[in-house]
Amino acid sequence: MKNKVTLKKILLKMEYLVKNILVLGAVGQIGSELVPYLRDLYGDHAVVALDRSPDFPAAILEGGPCETIDAMDANALFEVVRKHKIDTIINLVAVLSAKGEANPQMAWKINMDCLINSLEISRQTKGAVFTPSSIGAFGPSTPMDNTPQDTVMRPTTIYGISKVAAELLGDYYYLKHGVDARGLRYPGIISNVTLPGGGTTDYAVEIYYEAIKNQCFTCNLSAGTFLDMMYMPDALRALVELMEADPKNLVHRNCFNVSAMSFDPEMIAAEIRKHIPEFRLEYKIDAVKQSIANSWPNSMDHSAAQAEWGWEPEYDLKAMTADMLKILGKRL
Ligand code: SER
Repeated sequence: MKNKVTLKKILLKMEYLVKNILVLGAVGQIGSELVPYLRDLYGDHAVVALDRSPDFPAAILEGGPCETIDAMDANALFEVVRKHKIDTIINLVAVLSAKGEANPQMAWKINMDCLINSLEISRQTKGAVFTPSSIGAFGPSTPMDNTPQDTVMRPTTIYGISKVAAELLGDYYYLKHGVDARGLRYPGIISNVTLPGGGTTDYAVEIYYEAIKNQCFTCNLSAGTFLDMMYMPDALRALVELMEADPKNLVHRNCFNVSAMSFDPEMIAAEIRKHIPEFRLEYKIDAVKQSIANSWPNSMDHSAAQAEWGWEPEYDLKAMTADMLKILGKRL
């Protein structure tokens, strides 16, 4: 099993594939943790944080280069890429599933413009691009249990449609233009630095904050709603391992199913109660989120990621819950 320390040792022994990295969406849930993680692995000045919001966390602002521009502006983005001699763009800009349904045109425009700009610039610089796909790329006609790597992709959210398009465009730019595009189908990501915003899986983050603050949580998905999830340290390591993987082994380069655990609200509550016995779980269902969750897999098969680049998660529900409650308990 590889954790961050062993990963760093492995990367130091080999010639890095990735050298100058630009992270789009650096203030978001994944970006705010990915930037320090990458700076630790590749060096502070090799990782440029970019967001349209100037509200970079102090650790990111003080830790290395930052740029405040809108990644939808192709010219401005190209200037940043040129200025910092970027060879790898990590495009984390996305309007998530539930928020996207409130304004589908806006979600489509933001998700697609940032993607196309990243791919087009990388076509011209001969660089690499990482774009996360998601469990949201699946839909109600997809097999729900142990969802295969290659299967029906008919999502019913604008977010999911943009993610299927991202997978296909990544393949297209690779095949037609030789862009080293790669991507993972992330499950819901659970973290304790920056809250996600507007996703269907957000409850699985919020529940830990409320467990610490109020010993009670009102869940917007029903008992029995199973979804794939992953703890942030695994999500960050998966990204680096994929970007550093030998390209000749990558058959599914833009669409790897990756998972670490699958649970429903009752299971996460039961795990929290092992640490906070008085914790109470109540329900107030959000119809939009419930219908999105019902259309997504209960659990994904990630054997292609295991076979093609050695994916292995470290955290299960038990280990993640202990770590989340320890970290949030100290901070809150
Ligand atoms: N976490 C995302 C969402 O819920 C799924 O990728 O929208």
